[in-house]
Amino acid sequence: MDLIVSPREMQDLARQWRREGRIIAFVPTMGYFHPGHLSLMEYGRTRGDRLVVSLFVNPTQFGPSEDLDRYPRDLARDTELARQVGVDVLYTPTAAEMYPPGYQTYVTVEELSRGWCGASRPGHFRGVATVVLKLFHQVQPQVAVFGEKDYQQLALIRRLVRDLDLEVEVVGRPIVREPDGLAMSSRNSYLSPEERARALCLYRGLCAARDLAATGERRAAPLVAAAREIITATPGTRLDYLGLVDPDTLEAVEVLKGAARLLGAVWVGSTRLIDNLLLKESP
Ligand code: PAJ
Repeated sequence: MDLIVSPREMQDLARQWRREGRIIAFVPTMGYFHPGHLSLMEYGRTRGDRLVVSLFVNPTQFGPSEDLDRYPRDLARDTELARQVGVDVLYTPTAAEMYPPGYQTYVTVEELSRGWCGASRPGHFRGVATVVLKLFHQVQPQVAVFGEKDYQQLALIRRLVRDLDLEVEVVGRPIVREPDGLAMSSRNSYLSPEERARALCLYRGLCAARDLAATGERRAAPLVAAAREIITATPGTRLDYLGLVDPDTLEAVEVLKGAARLLGAVWVGSTRLIDNLLLKESP
């Protein structure tokens, strides 16, 4: 496995691979790998004959009071894990090279950036869309793999690719969970044992809504209320949002028709966690 830091060097290698007719699969990450990240890499391995994983804690997607400085990092461990999965290039650009002095160009996916996580994290999705577009130009993948864990991010990247005519196939992959159901996240490392136990209320809430939908309930209000009840009954947590949404536009739906996504975010102490679940209309 090669380690590349320079965007220029990454782009030169990608261009050479393209000339040779290689299929480049790409998994963008912020590192501190867990089995969710590794599942994307394993899938990427099957989709390309070259696999690039980027590891970049992107400053432009963090708000001023967010956790950029304490975001968990372990490059030695990540390097070893990426090597074991068969990654060809671990690409770790620096903030100084991604955003040199004078940098001032950003992309905004307008509607999809607004609600849900976008409402609690102003500027977050502008940073995500910008860095992903830059990474796409540097890595030049034919296939890019994202997790459904960050469902709004996935929907926004799909929109970005369509709107800007990018020649990349975006693949969304299922959420990898801990044995008790908690969605894996680098931020789970912030949780104390007590908070870790409380954090499960989000997944439990989403499951309660799914179970209610399975009994034939189709109205969004009671479905969301079923999830809210479990979360608000859990001490030490604060609900950020819950929404039953159209899987593509992420607009709230009043009634479950076919399939919808239930999105949720919860504060557990000072850690903000997100999760989501597919809800299907019961036949
Ligand atoms: P990061 O949070 O490191 O996540 C990298 C990728 O792993 C994302 O596509 C995310 O959805 C996926 N992922 C995280 N947890 C997962 C889980 N439990 N199961 C499946 N997939 C999971 O998302 C980012 O980084 C950044 O915003 C990035 C896209 C790299 C842009 O900076």
